[in-house]
Amino acid sequence: MNVLHVIANPRPAEVSKSKMLALEFFTTLTENNSEVIVNNVDLYQSRPPFVTAEALRYFWGPVADSDYNPSKAEETAANYSNNNSSMLMEADVLVLTLPVWINSMPAILKAWLDQVLVPGKMFEMSPEGISPTHRLRTVVLLVSSDELYKEGDVLDGLTPAIRAIFGYIGVDDIQIAWADGQDTSRHIGAEERFELAAEAAREIAEEVAAMT
Ligand SMILES: Cc1cc2nc3c(=O)[nH]c(=O)nc-3n(C[C@H](O)[C@H](O)[C@H](O)COP(=O)(O)O)c2cc1C
Repeated sequence: MNVLHVIANPRPAEVSKSKMLALEFFTTLTENNSEVIVNNVDLYQSRPPFVTAEALRYFWGPVADSDYNPSKAEETAANYSNNNSSMLMEADVLVLTLPVWINSMPAILKAWLDQVLVPGKMFEMSPEGISPTHRLRTVVLLVSSDELYKEGDVLDGLTPAIRAIFGYIGVDDIQIAWADGQDTSRHIGAEERFELAAEAAREIAEEVAAMT
């Protein structure tokens, strides 16, 4: 089984709560399944560019016109997507490690999704609609936030976006370990909430380890 771990957090592991959740998750995963293959992608080490008009023509040109031939500039604009989509296309499970920023995901993660969730890679587009061409079954979110809020809260702009984005390509199994209320200057019980999230991360890891 292939697990792709995408890290969308520039903070060092010693201070990052979401990276601490990732440590819990991957320790449990590899203890429970020694055959799992984990690929790590740190988006701050391999930064996705914002999608340009040339890249859009490269991604969507063949959908509109079967005779489409990309120009050199369009091909170059799609370099990041062409070089970085295969790991996601081959993943059974995607793990996203991230903080909540401005009630949603860090922009670098959205930039990555814009580059890799494109026709010809994760799905094919026809007049009948979308046909997924990936093997992704589950998306795991390992999240940390200062505020006290969870999925369903009116301020939560993260999980509705993730559910909509992956629902589009037919992936509805979204598992979440969320350490909220981590600002100790405003909220008591931050450690207990972190522990609950770490427990959730370990439980999800056990379930992923048992997947066949
Ligand atoms: C640019 C920025 C925006 C943030 N926006 C929010 C927010 O909207 N809601 C929230 O609860 N915390 C917000 N935070 C706080 C982080 O989510 C919080 O500190 C989290 O624990 C950081 O995760 P990390 O420890 O894994 O880096 C923000 C932090 C930064 C730097």
